[in-house]
Amino acid sequence: MATTTIPAWNRYRELLEALPYGKVLPTAVYVHRDIEPCRTGPMGQILAALTERHAIGEEFNVVKFRRDAPRISFLCYPQFFEAPHPSLEKSITVDLASGKSFRSGYGDNLNPPILHRKELLLAPGDPRARVYEALSAAEEQAGLYENTSIIGFRVNWERLLAARGLALDGHSLVRTSDNGVAHVFPPPIVAVQRHRTALTRYQLSKPVKTLLEFNQIPTGSSFFDYGCGLGADVRGLRELGFEASGWDPVHAPDAVRVEADVVNLGYVLNVIEDPAERLETLVSAWRLARRLLVVAALIGDSEADAPHAIALNDGILTRRNTFQKYFSQRELQSYIEDGLETSAVPVALGVFYVFSDSGEHQLFLQSRSRRSIEWDALVLGLSKPQAPPKAPRPARPPRPDRFAVHQGLLEEFWSVLLRLGRIPLPSEFPRHFELGEAFGSPRRALRHLLSNGRADIFRRAERARKADLLVYLAIANLRKTIPFSRLPEMVRCDIATFFHNYKQGLAEGRDLLHAAADSNNIAMACEEAGIGWQDEHSLYVHTALVDSLPTVLRTLIACAEFLYGNLREADILKIHKHSGKVTFLSYAEFDSALLPKLTTRTKVNLRTQRVEVFNHSGDGQLLYFKERYIDPADPQCPRLREISESLMKLGVSNACFLGPSANELCRMLSAEGRDDLIQALGLNSREEREHGRDRT
Ligand SMILES: C[S@@+](CC[C@H](N)C(=O)[O-])C[C@H]1O[C@@H](n2cnc3c(N)ncnc32)[C@H](O)[C@@H]1O
Repeated sequence: MATTTIPAWNRYRELLEALPYGKVLPTAVYVHRDIEPCRTGPMGQILAALTERHAIGEEFNVVKFRRDAPRISFLCYPQFFEAPHPSLEKSITVDLASGKSFRSGYGDNLNPPILHRKELLLAPGDPRARVYEALSAAEEQAGLYENTSIIGFRVNWERLLAARGLALDGHSLVRTSDNGVAHVFPPPIVAVQRHRTALTRYQLSKPVKTLLEFNQIPTGSSFFDYGCGLGADVRGLRELGFEASGWDPVHAPDAVRVEADVVNLGYVLNVIEDPAERLETLVSAWRLARRLLVVAALIGDSEADAPHAIALNDGILTRRNTFQKYFSQRELQSYIEDGLETSAVPVALGVFYVFSDSGEHQLFLQSRSRRSIEWDALVLGLSKPQAPPKAPRPARPPRPDRFAVHQGLLEEFWSVLLRLGRIPLPSEFPRHFELGEAFGSPRRALRHLLSNGRADIFRRAERARKADLLVYLAIANLRKTIPFSRLPEMVRCDIATFFHNYKQGLAEGRDLLHAAADSNNIAMACEEAGIGWQDEHSLYVHTALVDSLPTVLRTLIACAEFLYGNLREADILKIHKHSGKVTFLSYAEFDSALLPKLTTRTKVNLRTQRVEVFNHSGDGQLLYFKERYIDPADPQCPRLREISESLMKLGVSNACFLGPSANELCRMLSAEGRDDLIQALGLNSREEREHGRDRT
């Protein structure tokens, strides 16, 4: 990766702040690409280098500098000078930290982002700017800028103008006679039955489960479900003791829409056929979220998932006359980020978190890079080493042993030490005061534990924790750096313990990030991984074992997770050694099945930043040799090995990841008269049996 012209975050911010003008928003600065600071000086050089490296054409006439992340987007507004509010046609975004770029097209978008206050993007003396300035003044005076969060999208803007009896004639704002006529989409052939989209749920929805899994609804905080459908999430959370309420325009229209610490907008955006209303819904839910908004929508491809459905606006009309808009993972992320002008974190496929505070955002990312280690197993092996039997000594009056007296307290302290890899802060160990009373200080208690045969284990915990932190710091380089003083206290303590200082930690993280972008390093780390199974091109591991991989692979996976969501949603991870890709494979009943069937394959291309989802539920693609991927101590392993041996005898090769499909295997086994294996492997579905018979 070339780094010569890529500035570090601090330098980038300095250059950004030195821009003499531009349209400044909380998270970005916009300028026209022809202005002098974009053509000359250090910023000009950076843009020229990026233009060359990423083949950015002249039609990308606006530059958007992100203020919250080291990212520059080149935006193409074909009608920049002619249209009063030009529409965005396409964009190329370059991530300065990773050097990667990704392209987005808005040409087919029914509600594309549009520009306002064009004069701010040009040099102050530019003669064209005067006309634009006059238009902005007129629009402001007409009260059109009162709700800035939605005017940035074409249809919302046109509706607002129409509702106020206004229109644009070139760059002039004029009154219209046909008050209230707004741009509308062709009316659907039948009425869309939105209420029918609400499901009768028997368990919590996926976004709400992630909130519990990631501990995002701490005790005492409130939850509001925006578009709650039949209310299963609200009921479920109340049963668990949370303060939860919800509103739905169809199923709970009389409920009050209230602010809450956590707001859920679960599978609502994808049922709204009107793109302008969709955006307003997103913004309305965000306004209610004091700390966190969780947004979930359907991910998929309407052509593949519903090939015969009728197209409607940017989605489809289903057989039940409901509307469904299928998003791609990347599209949903951009949609939320464009609409709310802030960052969204993917936590699962189709599920994103948006934090109102950047410190909270950081704390979440940091806690996610903390490995889940079987600390309990370690603690179990930690009872004091047995001393060799000694010759009896003459009895002395017994002295009270304070370590023996406080054994329970010590063990509790020890498990926190192992979890953190360092001495806990008083807030992290509730019995801190007691420990001081008993041993003088936590450090003395630690010394005692280390001198009693526990030093090696503690060093391992320190190393593991430092590796977690490094992965977090590597990924932190992809975003705006949060000042040290604004990091949560426990993260500050981690950094002070494991690195000389924050700057050094970030620098080590950056080195790791660069290492993860180099396929030679990836290929080498795969060779050394020592877990999972690999061939020439890829390493395959079970997602539960990812934390045992070398840090460079963990960083690569964390980058992919940045786009995919939660890796624990998948079962097997495929790390491509040479192409900068990571694939997440999900299987039906992975834990219990002997030959699990592939259901979904999600490929994350880190070079193009594309996420592609493939549905394999009907293919009968089996995972052979499952014992290669799981923990060798798993009780299922002996049985799995037996099965694998039988299958190899029948000709299934152990040299490749893919083997015969379920139907093909059924046919092979039938031909050999191995009905016992067909039964044992659960290949006795009618379809498979028939396939097996037909072909023999
Ligand atoms: C697929 S359901 C999801 C319900 C619930 N969140 C869940 O996950 O079970 C979609 C819900 O969105 C509601 N809805 C439709 N338009 C809406 C809007 N503009 N604002 C809020 N909710 C809306 C529908 O009434 C429906 O109950």
